[in-house]
Amino acid sequence: MIGVFDSGFGGLSVFRELIYAFPKHDFIYLGDNARYPYGDRSADTVFRFTREAVSWLFKEGCELVILACNTASAQALRRIQQEWLPPQSSEKRVLGVLVPVVEDVAGGIEAHDRVGVIATRGTIRSNAYLRELTKHLPTDSDIIQQSCPLFVPLVEEGWLDHPVTKAVAYYYLAPLAKQGVNKLILGCTHYPFLVPVIADVMGESCQLFDPGPIVAKRLASYLKKHKDLDAKIRITGLRRYVTTDDPVRFNEFAQKAAGLSVDAQRLLLAEFDRI
Ligand code: DGL
Repeated sequence: MIGVFDSGFGGLSVFRELIYAFPKHDFIYLGDNARYPYGDRSADTVFRFTREAVSWLFKEGCELVILACNTASAQALRRIQQEWLPPQSSEKRVLGVLVPVVEDVAGGIEAHDRVGVIATRGTIRSNAYLRELTKHLPTDSDIIQQSCPLFVPLVEEGWLDHPVTKAVAYYYLAPLAKQGVNKLILGCTHYPFLVPVIADVMGESCQLFDPGPIVAKRLASYLKKHKDLDAKIRITGLRRYVTTDDPVRFNEFAQKAAGLSVDAQRLLLAEFDRI
């Protein structure tokens, strides 16, 4: 089974692309809605929460866990891969969204390009995107980062096309458009739900990088390369949705924002192995 983890609903923007690309593979989605948002939390807390979630997904039978959450990918993935995972298992894998997105941007980079990253405060503060981009882009590349903390609550409110959302998008993004950003990374699970509003401010010449389809494409090549791992993942087309908070709200968001008809289960935080 493939586990997909997010701090809440937003990771469904990645999950919907994964289940579309892998109709037969078994998937479980875990949203830690009870402790959402992660975006303003310390790196240590994000690591602890993410580790608990990954550990639970392993216990449920996942061979592979994808951190759909950018904040968790930015602030916890490296520690999970380097410190926590090796003593747990040599076979299970945990992957994030940052590297595939950065490599996708780098693959098509041209001399005149200006790359922008928008994300939560935690992701921007971590400089994880900046570090990865610097590794992959030519040394004189211009990279502009901007945190957009109000986008997440606006999406959760369902204000995907609301005048307030448009005004907020203008406030955050007009300076990036003015500075000539023409490749923009949507570095937060919620931002793909705002593509029309974001595209409106950034203009037609700006290419938006939505992690969902990029991660789905990358997973296909990853599983081709790791045939042993792929062979362990059951292919019964199972989809399980689990939230640490109210399943009714989860189901409503899944339907409204991601177009997914789901029947989520509630998981009590007490079921996590706490530190
Ligand atoms: N899932 C988070 C991310 O992609 C956004 C929501 C939160 O702050 O927890 O960064």
